[in-house]
Amino acid sequence: MIKRTSVIGWLIFLLLAACAPAAPTIAPTSLPSGVAIYRDSSQPVDARVADLLGRMTLDEKIGQMTQVPISSIGEGDIYRYAIGSILSGGSDSPKDNSLAGWTTLVDGVQKEALSTRLAIPLIYGIDAVHGVGHLVGSTVFPQEIGLGAANDPDLMRQIGRATAEEMLAVGIPWNFAPVVAVPQDVRWGRTYEAYGEDTALVSALGSAYIEGLQSIPAETTAAPGQTLGTLATAKHFLGDGATIFGSSTVPQYLLDQGNMQADEQTVRALFLPPYQAAVKAGAMSVMISFSSWNGTKMHAQHYLITTVLKGELGFQGFTVSDWGGIDQIDPSNYYHSVVTAINAGIDMGMIPDNYTTFIDSIRQGVQAGDILPERIDDAVTRILRVKFLLGLFDHPLSDPIYQGTVRSSAHLELARRAVRESLVLLKNDHQALPIDKQTPLVLVSGVGADDTGMQSGGWTLGWQGEPGNNVVGSTILDGIRALVSDQTRVIYRSGGVFDDLPGKAPVGIAVVAETPYAEGVGDLADLRLPADDVDRINRLRVKVDKLIVIVVSGRPRIITDQYQTADAWVAAWLPGSEADAIAGVLFGDYPFTGKLPYTWPRSNNQLPINKNNDTGLTGCSAPLFPYGYGLGTTGSTPIQWIDCP
Ligand code: BGC
Ligand code: BGC
Repeated sequence: MIKRTSVIGWLIFLLLAACAPAAPTIAPTSLPSGVAIYRDSSQPVDARVADLLGRMTLDEKIGQMTQVPISSIGEGDIYRYAIGSILSGGSDSPKDNSLAGWTTLVDGVQKEALSTRLAIPLIYGIDAVHGVGHLVGSTVFPQEIGLGAANDPDLMRQIGRATAEEMLAVGIPWNFAPVVAVPQDVRWGRTYEAYGEDTALVSALGSAYIEGLQSIPAETTAAPGQTLGTLATAKHFLGDGATIFGSSTVPQYLLDQGNMQADEQTVRALFLPPYQAAVKAGAMSVMISFSSWNGTKMHAQHYLITTVLKGELGFQGFTVSDWGGIDQIDPSNYYHSVVTAINAGIDMGMIPDNYTTFIDSIRQGVQAGDILPERIDDAVTRILRVKFLLGLFDHPLSDPIYQGTVRSSAHLELARRAVRESLVLLKNDHQALPIDKQTPLVLVSGVGADDTGMQSGGWTLGWQGEPGNNVVGSTILDGIRALVSDQTRVIYRSGGVFDDLPGKAPVGIAVVAETPYAEGVGDLADLRLPADDVDRINRLRVKVDKLIVIVVSGRPRIITDQYQTADAWVAAWLPGSEADAIAGVLFGDYPFTGKLPYTWPRSNNQLPINKNNDTGLTGCSAPLFPYGYGLGTTGSTPIQWIDCP
């Protein structure tokens, strides 16, 4: 009951002051007169942080280290525990999912934080991993995998900036993005959340995105000392894309939250560099991975978090645990888990539920001498520093000025450019592409051809994403219809049954699309196309002269058995809300420029296969398409087909 005691203290002070005006020796620390250094915007950030820290009780410090989902925070608890951060988890959107609904929600919790004794603003976080995917009517950019195929740092900076603007439109300054994992096994359900399997690619794109996201948007009147527009999070530290198949500690998962078995040299060569680049680009928060390194949970790794990240790499920001990740350190002993995590160097705990137990455990740890007060002060200093650098003390509430940026024509055009650049042409025989706009009849099949939910993937309107057309946007089919000539007939049947039509159409487009998923729910052992998709490809084949297959997916899928059936194959990844832009490339208004950010396997037996382990493989042992492959780009020539057993 921080506030109540402080109110009593304040009343006692007033009473004392009234009786003996010259006498008080211990003044309350929150004099509303505004003289406190931390409240003075003209003071340097470090001085403000030190001043504020000096005024805080242990309970207030622990509050700063606690992050609670909006869906589980109890009424009055932000105030009661001086909570430092709130997040929206993957499915935590307000009932009124509009700009007004969001700003009311976010400003509401912020006002509660501002009513605490020291009025320290909280920091609200969200997974705006491909735009503000939670918000109905936002610009949903391609998932990272598509941006890896585009490999365009300038595009990344602009997407980062655009995402920052749409975040600020809902009043949220903290993004749990980018994922800078370097996935080595595409069976992982988070493959699409990463740029690709190459360390240098991930480093370059991740840092460019961070620069854009953290830069101060043009609309902003920066507060004194403000250097961050919004806050980026490099995640998940470390080696989340390196886990061994079957090693997950979650019963239904395969790779996610599993174990990276690797020597330090490998870890430093393959997985650490994107964090070096992120720190250099100014990243001020890092999320710790659910995974383990050589059998020990990353949340307990003092060496990597404190010695390497904060020491060697010079990271000045704060670290945050993953969702309930601290609990996993020692499932049988929560106190031990908390003490270990804080001592390992975790500054803020993302605590899905039972946050009072987390708070009590830290307090108990300090009282018992298991956690040193200096460790608490270091954590809180890091968190407060970021809050000042974001200008939160001066501008804690949402500013309507950004609202016009949401789905602005500039953002939509940026998203379309990203979609076009992300497309990878895998095969193009018989000049199937580009399609002539005058083609009299085009047959289109596949649910994914006309479904904004499927094309957006996970982390869109919900943690797992959702099929259906609730994402505001356009589809591949919309784009085709918009570009063909007035004389062209486009017939779309999601099920792909065209048997009743006489003869053959000149062109058919089959869209095969994955049903959205997120995290370990998307771990998959068998990457072959589902039977339904194979069926649709075969049915359309006999009704068209030229067949084009578009794969809408969060990772390469095994298409070897169908490869010969189609004249052309395009990998479109998860393009987000503006999938109509795909048509511009299909019809030749724009060239194919994307290159594979992941090695494309020939068969399940080869998995895991990637550029780090496939050297020297030939014939049927080689992947179907190598890393970096993409027709229409320099250096790529069509593969030589070989029949393999
Ligand atoms: C994910 C993180 C995410 C967090 C908050 C976790 O399950 O691993 O990537 O930022 O949830 O939604
Ligand atoms: C939340 C996500 C979180 C996930 C982890 C979901 O309920 O919405 O944000 O990543 O749980 O299990």
